[in-house]
Amino acid sequence: MIQRPIARISGLGVAVPSGIRTNADWEAALDTSDQWIVERTGIRERRWAGPEDTVASLSKTAADLALEQAGIGPMDLGGIILGTATPDRLLPSTACDLQALLGAENAAAFDIAAACPGWLYSLTVAEGLIAAGQAEHILVVGAEKLSTITDETDRSTAILFGDGAGATVISAYRNEANGGILSTFIRSDGRLASLLYRPGGGSTRPFSQEVLDDRSHFMKMAGREVFKAAVRAMTQACDEAIQRAGVAAEDIDLMVPHQANIRIIEATAKHTGMPMDKVMVNIDRFGNTSAASIPLAFDQAINEGRLERGMLILLVTFGAGFTWGSSVVRW
Ligand code: ACO
Repeated sequence: MIQRPIARISGLGVAVPSGIRTNADWEAALDTSDQWIVERTGIRERRWAGPEDTVASLSKTAADLALEQAGIGPMDLGGIILGTATPDRLLPSTACDLQALLGAENAAAFDIAAACPGWLYSLTVAEGLIAAGQAEHILVVGAEKLSTITDETDRSTAILFGDGAGATVISAYRNEANGGILSTFIRSDGRLASLLYRPGGGSTRPFSQEVLDDRSHFMKMAGREVFKAAVRAMTQACDEAIQRAGVAAEDIDLMVPHQANIRIIEATAKHTGMPMDKVMVNIDRFGNTSAASIPLAFDQAINEGRLERGMLILLVTFGAGFTWGSSVVRW
């Protein structure tokens, strides 16, 4: 009988720009307050890229750390999948730029556009490629420069977002004792696209002076509607990943959710029956970094000693599209 390889996270690394925007900085620029931002979102500060930071350069720093932890070199990679909503250029993919920076000449490189779930979508594709025997090691990255698509004059969105990158090496194993990805679940609903989108700057409304003037190249969001949809989708996603993994919610040792809003995280955790001391929260430090969010929280959980080998982790995310997804991983 042919044994399908099991995909496992064998390395993880993150990188954030050195620039920091605090709530006090936003207070000085907009009609908002630290108290409103903390109470309504949980955010205290976020990283803000400078001109020297690119999605590819942040990804390269994160990828070097992930490769080192996995004990492999760039030439061992069969694939590079990069989830981002803010590619450095529209052509070619940022994954190809990252491939060139790494010198990973044996890899097929491509981006995945799935907004905040970009890393989890990429993980799901990598897992499938590994199970199909297409590669032994795949680099899965979630990286964003949301600061470039954030309207700094719009208080309803500006205070939410930040920049960063997280990279993971996904490797094939043939021994279940090594743990691995037990389940993945991804879904989308394109009918709701206009609740969170960038109307201008794409091929329907190409970049022009008019687009610049009406600021339609920046993100627009109907916050309240997105909030409700996020809770609905993330609770469904938790149930699906847990059921597909064949485990019980009580067996989950740590939940690592997308960090969009502390109130969304709390509502999702409550539905799933997870006490907040089993939920990783670092939105206070980074805000919503979209595709980089889960790897940044995952990395912090490891650094804080919250993860031990053999533990069960639930990952869950939601974003523009709408897109959402989840995964149960044995660490
Ligand atoms: N400071 C002060 N007041 C504000 C601010 C601000 N920064 N922003 C909005 N307000 C005001 C509003 O104008 C409104 O005032 P009004 O009552 O006089 O009309 C009031 O605060 C309440 O506004 P709401 O939008 O109802 O506030 P809400 O509690 O919903 O919080 C928020 C807004 C934080 C945006 C929330 O809706 C949210 O987190 N939504 C989901 C975001 C998300 O999950 N995005 C998905 C991923 S992002 C991606 O995919 C790239």
